[in-house]
Amino acid sequence: MRFMMSTSQAILTWSGLCAILSPPILGSAVQLLPPPPILVNFTADVVYNYTGTLNQTKSVTPLVIDTFVDVDRNDLGFWHGPSTSLPAETGHGYVRLFPSDADQNYHTELGPATCFDMRPYQHMYLHLVFSGSTKFSISLNQLNEKCDSRRSPFLETWDSVEAERYARGNDIYVPLDHFLVDQSRTVSVSFHGFFTWDSLTLYKVEIVSEVPWGFYVPPKLENGKLFLHCTRPNSFAFGIDDGLPHLVRDVMEILEEEKILVTFFVVGAGLRDKGANFSSVYKEMLQKGHQIALHSDTHQKIEGLETIKAVDEEIVHNMETFQRELGIQSRYFRPPYGTIGARTRQRLAAYIKDPNIINWSVDVEDWLWKDSKTPERQRDAFFRDVGRGGNLVVMHYLSPTTVRYFKEFIHFIKSLNIDIMRVDQCLEDPDSPPIDPLRYQKPVKYKVQSNRDPGAQEGMAE
Ligand SMILES: *[C@@H]1O[C@H](CO)[C@@H](O)[C@H](O)[C@H]1NC(C)=O
Ligand SMILES: *[C@@H]1O[C@H](CO)[C@@H](O)[C@H](O)[C@H]1NC(C)=O
Ligand SMILES: *[C@@H]1O[C@H](CO)[C@@H](O)[C@H](O)[C@H]1NC(C)=O
Ligand SMILES: *[C@@H]1O[C@H](CO)[C@@H](O)[C@H](O)[C@H]1NC(C)=O
Ligand SMILES: *[C@@H]1O[C@H](CO)[C@@H](O)[C@H](O)[C@H]1NC(C)=O
Ligand SMILES: [Zn+2]
Repeated sequence: MRFMMSTSQAILTWSGLCAILSPPILGSAVQLLPPPPILVNFTADVVYNYTGTLNQTKSVTPLVIDTFVDVDRNDLGFWHGPSTSLPAETGHGYVRLFPSDADQNYHTELGPATCFDMRPYQHMYLHLVFSGSTKFSISLNQLNEKCDSRRSPFLETWDSVEAERYARGNDIYVPLDHFLVDQSRTVSVSFHGFFTWDSLTLYKVEIVSEVPWGFYVPPKLENGKLFLHCTRPNSFAFGIDDGLPHLVRDVMEILEEEKILVTFFVVGAGLRDKGANFSSVYKEMLQKGHQIALHSDTHQKIEGLETIKAVDEEIVHNMETFQRELGIQSRYFRPPYGTIGARTRQRLAAYIKDPNIINWSVDVEDWLWKDSKTPERQRDAFFRDVGRGGNLVVMHYLSPTTVRYFKEFIHFIKSLNIDIMRVDQCLEDPDSPPIDPLRYQKPVKYKVQSNRDPGAQEGMAE
């Protein structure tokens, strides 16, 4: 299935690249007008010269990462391949990808799942030889601080650029310093965030010290920071997404009893639904000190939306609804399904100054197990990810089983003397409310619960 790309193609011919780089307008969210779409204009401002900014005294030789001659390994001898759901045709000297979902990806690794130091190359360019679709994101992925692939999160963060902005003919050159990650800890280059189902063929991925004379490279666009874990030492945060109205009282009661603050990621459409009463509920949550953060307007895989207009609507309507229903603004956004690519990030940054994009490092997997015969596997998932070092949770209140396990999760974290707080607090945001050091008056003992009986709370806390 292919989309007709009439709208997007129209966008390419717009002019006025500079105008859209002007700062966003967070002051008056209700009157927000979408800034014009991000333009693709290859005659844009920045020309990278032949000699570039390469430091001659410390020259490194270019690095061929992948020429796709081997099915399983790239030219560095490390793994490359598509995510399981992405059909790929591998030939001698190319790989052809047939995407059908924004979450599919293809990775080519820079090391054997350990940190690769990209710093000697940081004034150089990532060069791709390709044909076919330009409607995808290119990311440079950063491994966690222990450089350990068994830790959670595996990737600490990544930065993405929009392929289309950098493509010309069959070449793409991206200055490596357009990827704002810790370049001493890179681990792979990946291709993802597809938003048409046209195929993409890759012939070469390499790092080169120069671009062909006259090849125009666009400026870096602002695109926010992506977090998968809390940065404050000894902190832990529950990021709670969508829920069911009839379970919210139970969640509130637990938060009250446990005296913890959390972050709710809230969809605009749900807040507008009068029958659900979420507007009153989240107002009450705000009063009690919880953080309410953006989670899109209608809960779609935003990066997969065909047009920038559709991406913008998901962001703007969520912001407008927050302003109107709750009287708040938020710099925090969790993409539905964790689906995020260059376009969503850029559009967030067009509306919100320094957006913080929040993924997770502890997945309760309630979406997988809550209605299964084995709901206790939500516990297994929680303890597995916490055991690997995860400290930023994704969970929902869509099932009574998840809500009952929630209390046990809290007790376990408290028993480790780890501080539970809002996401903005755990990211050391200077605008977040101060942390109350006397929140828990009593020490908490944790007793292992039976998997079979998540309801039993007796004797868990002292
Ligand atoms: C690209 O930008 C230049 C300079 O701003 C402008 O003159 C030109 O018309 C633009 N080209 C396209 C295709 O929009
Ligand atoms: C590129 O080279 C030209 C000619 O040498 C020079 O005038 C110009 O300033 C250079 N531009 C950059 C961005 O270095
Ligand atoms: C070039 O590399 C040398 C040696 O590492 C360093 O001292 C110098 O500051 C670098 N210059 C630039 C412009 O990066
Ligand atoms: C709606 O939520 C508010 C605040 O939590 C609560 O006081 C009120 O009883 C709720 N109304 C209904 C109809 O559930
Ligand atoms: C969000 O984080 C989880 C856990 O690390 C990961 O599995 C998922 O792929 C991330 N989302 C995206 C879009 O990569
Ligand atoms: Zn969600």
